This record gives sequence, structure tokens and C-alpha cells, in this order.
Amino acid sequence: MSLYARITGTGSALPPKRLTNEDMVSLLAARGLQTSDDWIVERTGIRARHFVEGDTQASDLALTASLRALQAAGRQPHEVDLIVVATSTPDMVFPSTATIVQRKLHEAAQAHGGQGPIGAPAFDLQAVCTGFIYALTVADALIRTGSARCALVVGAEVFSRILDFDDRTTCVLFGDGAGAVVLEATEHDGRGAGVLATDVHADGRHTGILCVPGTVAGGHVLGEPLLRMDGQAVFKLAVGVLEETARTTLAKAGLSEADIDWLIPHQANIRIMQSTARKLKLPMERVVVTVDQHGNTSAASIPLALDHAVRAGMVRPGQLLLLEGVGGGFTWGSALVRY
Ligand code: UT7
Repeated sequence: MSLYARITGTGSALPPKRLTNEDMVSLLAARGLQTSDDWIVERTGIRARHFVEGDTQASDLALTASLRALQAAGRQPHEVDLIVVATSTPDMVFPSTATIVQRKLHEAAQAHGGQGPIGAPAFDLQAVCTGFIYALTVADALIRTGSARCALVVGAEVFSRILDFDDRTTCVLFGDGAGAVVLEATEHDGRGAGVLATDVHADGRHTGILCVPGTVAGGHVLGEPLLRMDGQAVFKLAVGVLEETARTTLAKAGLSEADIDWLIPHQANIRIMQSTARKLKLPMERVVVTVDQHGNTSAASIPLALDHAVRAGMVRPGQLLLLEGVGGGFTWGSALVRY
């Protein structure tokens, strides 16, 4: 018998403030820039996105998503023995957002007379929009080697903080949110539920095509602390690597594209999702799409889409899910999961 990691609960969180494309048209018009609902829908499939307000941080969204995932899994915060948070918009330079989530989980549990996962290792993982796939891969490996039994794997972002609202080519694309899964050790012969295979990659030659080039030094921000993207370059790379990683993961698990029940891709652009689906010969009815309502929430987008599909009754026990992501770095990867 081998150890496998199984998703036993999912959860997500979106900040209440929702902006439609028409809201973005007004927001940009006030800055002397033009955009339109037609352009955004046609080029990306996005119709709305959520933005945080006030001092809401990535850890706040992560906490809500985590509590919902724990409730779905029937687990208490003190049972968690690993916390991995994928984010490119951490609360602060350090400590990690994961340790802040750990403290907030502890405080939430204490309010009900319980305890949080104090003592469990907690760390952030930075792979931009591929962050959740990387985090799932790491947590899966730690569970398979017996180092953890009940992991919280979270993607949480407040990209509205790093958007340049004077750049219409990027600011209409992104949104804020968080998604989480509880990943638990299970023993089975490989045919049951669990993470069946993962595949992650990076090509650091392309760091410049999607980045926030600023940094902090001597009490000042050096460089630009705002998102910059060469959309066409990212698009071209994305469509190639997403097909490749999907095929690699399927081959590792000894399965084929015909076995996939649901493709749950990173939600950046409907055209990229359609292209991947076409290459894998999957009808769009088998692709989970939330980009229309969430925009691109970077590391949060895949677990947000997964939770949406689970709670909508689309994803059912025993089904085969192909999760895949691509993003800054340049990074990409996929995970094949029997739910
Ligand atoms: O999460 C990480 C992964 N990220 C991605 O996957 C993003 C990948 N890239 C994309 O999704 C697309 O490249 C974009 C949606 C970013 C852009 O779509 P595109 O079809 O590549 O458009 P484009 O950059 O070629 O721009 C076409 C035109 C340009 O005008 P001209 O030069 O043809 O006159 C832009 O200036 O659209 C113009 N444009 C806009 N017009 C209205 C750019 N942004 C806007 C806008 N509203 N917001």
C-alpha cells in the first residue's frame, strides 16, 4: 500500500465588491482611457471581477477559504499539520502569509474554544499564476513521504493592489480572491481518489514578460511596483506548454485525454482555455469556466474554480480532474486528481 494525497474539502472566498466591465469602462474613463465591454469579453471572456476594499489582505481571503475547506472536509484547524499558501501578493515582505493565516486560524478556533494549527510548518510558495499547482505538488510530495497527513493548500491574491489603472492592457484582466483545499493522506492501490500525478516547470529566460519589477530597499520602493505584461508573448507560450504538461501528466498516470471528466484550467483568458480544450479534444462543456465572473485571480483561480465546480454539483466523487496553470516566471504545470 502506498500513501496518496486526497482532496477532502474545498473552499473559496471573494471580496464583496464586484466590478462589471461597465464599471471598468467608467473607472478608466475617469483617467482618460478607453475600453469597452465588447473588447474585454471578446478578447478575454471576462465580464466581472472582485476587488478588496480597505485593509483586507490576502491572508483574510485565505482564512475564509481555509475555514470553508476545513468545514467541507469535516476537519478542525488543530488537525492541520501543513499550511502552504501560494501568493504573489503577500500581506508583507515577511513573515509569510501562511504564518499569518496560521495565527488567524488559531484565533478563529479559539473563539469557539478550540485550537489552531500552531506548530505545523507554514510557508508561502511563489510561482505566480502556477502557484496553486506548485503548492499542490509540494504538499502531495510531503504527504506521500509521510511528512504531513492533513495539509491546507491555498491560493490567495489581492492583485488589485499591484494593478496599474493607467494601463488598460492589464488592469481589466485581474481580480482578487482565494481558494483552498484540504489534502489528506490516504492509503490505496493507486486506482482510488487522490492526486495521481503532477508536473511542474519553469523557464527563467522569460522573467520579463509578466512581472512586478519593483522591490524594497532602504525604506523605499525601487523600480515599478506594478504589474507589467507582454500579453501576446504570454499567450503564445501558454497555449504550447499547457497542452504539453497536460499530456505529460496523463502519461505519468497511464491515462489519456478521453479519461478526463473536467479540465480545470487557470482562469486567465477564455481563448487560451478553448485552445487547450481543442487540443485535448475536450468539449467546452467539460471545462470549468469562472473567468467570466472572477477575472484572472492568479494563484487563486484554480482552487476558486474547483470549489465553484464542487459546490455547483458539477464535480462528483470518482471523477478525473485535470488542473493546469501557467504564469509569470515563466512557470507552468498540471495535476491529475481523482476527486
Ligand atoms: O495569468 C497569467 C497568464 N496571463 C495570460 O494568459 C494573458 C495572456 N494574454 C492575453 O490574454 C491577451 O494577450 C490579452 C487579453 C492580454 C490581450 O489580447 P490581444 O488579443 O493579444 O490584444 P493585443 O494586445 O494584441 O491588443 C489589440 C488591440 C491594441 O490596439 P491596436 O494596437 O491594435 O490599435 C490594444 O491597444 O487592443 C488594444 N487594447 C484595448 N482596447 C480596449 C488593449 N487593451 C485594451 C482595452 N480596451 N482594455
